Amino acid sequence: MICIGHRGASAYEPENTIRAFKRAIDMGCQGVEMDLRRTKDGKIVVIHDETVDRTTNGKGKVSEMTLEEIKKLDSHGEKIPLLSEVLSEVKAEIFLLELKESGYEESIVKEVKDFNLLDKVVFVSFNYDSLKKVKEVGGEKIGLIYETQPYPIQVAKSLKAYAMLPSYNLLNRIHANELKKNKFFVIPWVVNDVSILEKMMYFKVDGVITDKPDIMKQLKYLRKGNETLTI
Ligand code: G3P
Ligand code: CA
Repeated sequence: MICIGHRGASAYEPENTIRAFKRAIDMGCQGVEMDLRRTKDGKIVVIHDETVDRTTNGKGKVSEMTLEEIKKLDSHGEKIPLLSEVLSEVKAEIFLLELKESGYEESIVKEVKDFNLLDKVVFVSFNYDSLKKVKEVGGEKIGLIYETQPYPIQVAKSLKAYAMLPSYNLLNRIHANELKKNKFFVIPWVVNDVSILEKMMYFKVDGVITDKPDIMKQLKYLRKGNETLTI
């Protein structure tokens, strides 16, 4: 079962920064998840919210600021990174790129292609039209994020999705089996608690998205003797 650092190791480092992504890899994650938005001058940057207010010392909408303005901001000692900076500096086996907006799919796929990382990237979103567009412009692997029912299995099948990303509390044995039967790569979010991690293992998910990569190691200590699980 693989570990994906949610916004990096965001429980320990400023979210969606190079420091957080590198920390997740250092803590044993195979992959990192990040959120993508577009600046006023069309640059792809890594930030979760529509505005910079919560995570930096600035104020305003990302879409109304130039890259130069964005780069002046401080995010707990770090800068908001460009997607290209993350792709060049972070050595991950899997990058989950979450599209928080639409209309920039082609630019994102192009950047990934420029780094020759198409095989390591899964483009993910709550916006399935955006994922459809990603496929049309050459993105290979897509993943549907969801947190409510009905489960979007039919949409995922019609889009030939690679991954399914349910909120962990939507998973039960029946749904997990259905996902596996359809050969999706299943990665629930955001698993920050060891008891939930154990439950996810029981459902045989392929990986978890977590703010706390160290829970993967804690898991071993919960089991006794020959009950120890290999991760
Ligand atoms: O990967 C899924 C998860 O990141 C979606 O929620 O709000 O953290 O982007 P959010
Ligand atoms: Ca996200």
